[in-house]
Amino acid sequence: MAEPVRVAILISGSGSNMVRLVESMTGDHPARPVLVLSNVPDAGGLARARALGVPTAVVDHRAYPDRAAFEAALHDRLASARADLICLAGFMRVLTAPFVARWQGRMLNIHPSLLPKYRGLDTHARALAAGDAEAGCSVHEVTPDLDAGPVLGQARVPVLPGDTPESLARRVLEQEHRLYPEVLRRVAAGDRRAVTIDAGQSGGG
Ligand code: GAR
Repeated sequence: MAEPVRVAILISGSGSNMVRLVESMTGDHPARPVLVLSNVPDAGGLARARALGVPTAVVDHRAYPDRAAFEAALHDRLASARADLICLAGFMRVLTAPFVARWQGRMLNIHPSLLPKYRGLDTHARALAAGDAEAGCSVHEVTPDLDAGPVLGQARVPVLPGDTPESLARRVLEQEHRLYPEVLRRVAAGDRRAVTIDAGQSGGG
């Protein structure tokens, strides 16, 4: 059997997407998690990763004089884990073009909007302010332009009457948990055709 694809997951927060990715990489899955790395020393996801038996690391951006030094340390840590593929999962640092170039084609991100709509922050508030009938999330390849790389998968949810940014975020997050493992499995198997998930087909997953 081919060597599994070695996946590093980068987080800054609670890591709920990371947990779903780690849990998905078992059995005949073509990838395995080799590292969960956070730029935030007390990110809640670190303990969750340890509980799942995945090695963890912290590269605290505040400890470095500039982005280049931070990203050099990040790169070193990823290289020493022999990562083949990076999954950004709520990693809230913008990565510069030289770092992205080193990993281009080998770095995925999940973003809580239906790209190309609402790159950047506050996606749910912006979707509500625009009066959108649907919202969702996207997994895309990371390229130097923020949230602008090729889309590999999307999941859509209806916007409901009375939705707040928080209620919409919760419903979209449930779909993130379905979408990201699905896209990772496909990409690790060499399939980059975009996939669409409809919340209506959820089946409780
Ligand atoms: C997720 O909603 C993810 O889409 C978002 O942060 C959250 C992380 O949650 N990412 C971004 O906004 C990236 N710009 P998690 O830590 O529970 O996975």
